[in-house]
Amino acid sequence: MKTVYITRREHFNAAHKLWRPDWSEAKNDEVFGKCSNKNWHGHNFNIFVTVKGVPSSDTGFVINLKDLSKIMKAHIIEPLDHKNLNMDVPFMEGILASTENLVIKIWEQIEDPIRGAGGELVKIKLEETENNYVEYYGGKEPI
Ligand code: NI
Repeated sequence: MKTVYITRREHFNAAHKLWRPDWSEAKNDEVFGKCSNKNWHGHNFNIFVTVKGVPSSDTGFVINLKDLSKIMKAHIIEPLDHKNLNMDVPFMEGILASTENLVIKIWEQIEDPIRGAGGELVKIKLEETENNYVEYYGGKEPI
């Protein structure tokens, strides 16, 4: 099988804080440090979505990048860009707004639409800063 992995990058920025209301201020500060700052802070996120498949004999594509771009805009960029992850994003409601949790929730938003466009989502890489990023494979082992 001539499986090819194709990745599309998009960008968004969003605010958040890491804070557990059931913990004291001291405990939040101890565990989350600066990220627990009451008045929020922001990140410029880069997100890389990887889809696998065998190139179509009709188009040569694994997935039409126009379709993948549309899906990412509708299900990631629209709900997240310039938003507060703790307050503005329905799919993050009640969830600690860590990058780890965010990447899992993003997967849930785009897996089905990508399947609908004929692709199979296999990996999301989410960069929070130049130095920190997370990778998620839908709960499976890395590809
Ligand atoms: Ni942060």
